Amino acid sequence: MPVITFANTKGGAGKTTAVLLLASELAHMGHRVTVLDTDPQHWMSRWFDLSPPMPRLTVTPYVTQASLDRHVEEARATADYVLIDLPGVRSPLLAKAIGMSDHVLIPIQGCAMDAQGGAHVLELLQYLETKLGMRVPHSVVLTRVNSMVTTRALLAVKGLLAQRNVDVLNTPIIERSAFRDVFDCGGTLHMLDPARISNLDKALENVRLYAEEILRRVPAAGSVVRRGVA
Ligand SMILES: Nc1ncnc2c1ncn2[C@@H]1O[C@H](COP(=O)(O)OP(=O)(O)OP(=O)(O)O)[C@@H](O)[C@H]1O
Ligand SMILES: [Mg+2]
Repeated sequence: MPVITFANTKGGAGKTTAVLLLASELAHMGHRVTVLDTDPQHWMSRWFDLSPPMPRLTVTPYVTQASLDRHVEEARATADYVLIDLPGVRSPLLAKAIGMSDHVLIPIQGCAMDAQGGAHVLELLQYLETKLGMRVPHSVVLTRVNSMVTTRALLAVKGLLAQRNVDVLNTPIIERSAFRDVFDCGGTLHMLDPARISNLDKALENVRLYAEEILRRVPAAGSVVRRGVA
């Protein structure tokens, strides 16, 4: 059961949106997903409370540094994927969550402040590898990317990541009103009304490609066996 932590110590980078989109798409594809909400602002849990029942998706609220191990252990019995949503601050929870993860996903907006928050996470991952010999696979997903123009800030962030040989997903998460609406309405993108939400088809395609890239990097445990049997 892979554990994926979403981390950027800069607030508002798009972590919770990236968690929500991946969780609901993986559930849509047939995987059982548990999201551990460690953010005191409970955005994921609020969205879950608003949503109609989703049989394959669970959000556990009030997860703390002290209870993280227990919640991950409990999720092992029921989930194919565990996603950890962290608050946008530096905290001891970050190192603990990274230590329990099979993959760390770093959502970064194309702006300098955000890249700094992402760099803190990359530095911590580097430290764990060089000092403790603990290598946690990780990648960056660019968020809130403008669908029309490539800004200079985004190019600068991409250049910085390439210099450091950081793995960056080919699929960025585009800035779309559908990704805000889904927070307000509850449920998944698939449940929104295409007549009322602009470019819902493009939003759905964006999320499908994003989820497929994650599945390639972090296959579900036993998926090879399942494919073999099928
Ligand atoms: N791709 C996107 N398109 C449109 N709006 C977005 C997108 N990503 C994030 N947002 C909006 O930006 C704001 C911040 O996003 P989000 O809550 O996902 O960031 P965060 O990194 O989880 O923040 P925090 O550090 O406070 O937990 C929210 O209002 C969200 O709706
Ligand atoms: Mg958040």
